[in-house]
Amino acid sequence: MESLPRYIPEHANPLRALSLAELRQRTSEKWRVYPQDVLPVWVAEMDVLPAEPVAQAIIDAVRLGDTGYATGTAYARALSDFAAKRWDWRTLAVERTAIVPDVMLGVVEMLRLVTDPGGRVIVNSPVYPPFYAFVTHMDRQVVEAPLGADHRIDLDVLEAAFRAAGATGERVAYLLCNPHNPTGTVHTEAELTAVAALAAEYGVRVVVDEIHAPLASPDVFVPYLSVPGAENGLSLMSASKGWNLAGLKAALAVAGPAAAEDLARMPAEAADGCSHLGVIAHTAALRDGVGWLDALLVGLDENRRLLAELLADRLPSVRYTPAEGTYLAWLDCRELGLGDSPATRFLERGRVALSCGTYFGTGGAGHARFNLATHPDILTEAVARMAASIRA
Ligand SMILES: Cc1ncc(COP(=O)(O)O)c(C=O)c1O
Repeated sequence: MESLPRYIPEHANPLRALSLAELRQRTSEKWRVYPQDVLPVWVAEMDVLPAEPVAQAIIDAVRLGDTGYATGTAYARALSDFAAKRWDWRTLAVERTAIVPDVMLGVVEMLRLVTDPGGRVIVNSPVYPPFYAFVTHMDRQVVEAPLGADHRIDLDVLEAAFRAAGATGERVAYLLCNPHNPTGTVHTEAELTAVAALAAEYGVRVVVDEIHAPLASPDVFVPYLSVPGAENGLSLMSASKGWNLAGLKAALAVAGPAAAEDLARMPAEAADGCSHLGVIAHTAALRDGVGWLDALLVGLDENRRLLAELLADRLPSVRYTPAEGTYLAWLDCRELGLGDSPATRFLERGRVALSCGTYFGTGGAGHARFNLATHPDILTEAVARMAASIRA
């Protein structure tokens, strides 16, 4: 392996630290699923050099042989402190948290607590494809309440879904994604408060996936459990997306005060798959990685602007509205006339890999998801390849 940069200064843009040649040495999914000539801007991994305190914590643990089983509340305490400082959310109680192996397994465990086999789980399509796969795999039914054309929750559609699902007399859950993958929508306090009121009215339990929360500006993100009426909600939080730690798995389930007894019913073995190194890395990120995160957010903002400019110039019929959260860009390619899966054309003729919109459920056809957490040069090259694939 060629020598890599050892670290970056805390306030430097971590998206500019690695070259394409260095990134191609990676062995993770993003860089290995497609052949070498394909530029990958698909799966939610970031092309960043890690925050130095995170890298150091992992190195120290490995050097010490501290590679056993996870225990303790350090991760939950770090999240609680981060939430208080970042979002002014001061009621994230460590005793109402549980470590889970990762966010999706945490989602499954929370849904098991509040629904029964065969029961309904409502989602806002288009949405992160594993929401369908995991919910179906655990023997629940997915019910779609599509987002509006503005990518925001349509409260009338949601209410109709709550009413219809509630009419079955079964226990119903709403799996909310905030910030929303793939659109990047950050739900407002008013929207979340309205959701909590509807959930209370129809007896629906809210489970919220807040994995992308650190990637939204702290001025706009509002934790669901902090809004009035959300006391019986359950949230999944993690440093995984914010600090690019998907390979160092760990997450936290957080219960509102009226859901504490539900969380207490989670079987102890549900926490067993969690990685001790993951917990160490996530704890260091939340505690000591905030300077790095802020520099990343500046870099992501620059990339959003760059992507908008490049698309306007090279692919003006692709509709893209820069979003407030996540590093994902949801591209409406319907005017290109490439059918349901424009990502197939981009891949086959442009040798650039985006995520195919149809995987995201209703509302995904004709769309593609672009991961803009990369070097601006790679982003520029990706758009050039997309444009070339249209001319080809
Ligand atoms: C909304 C959402 N939830 C969960 C995950 C996966 O998280 P984990 O690897 O912790 O299960 C992702 C990954 O991209 C995601 O976007």
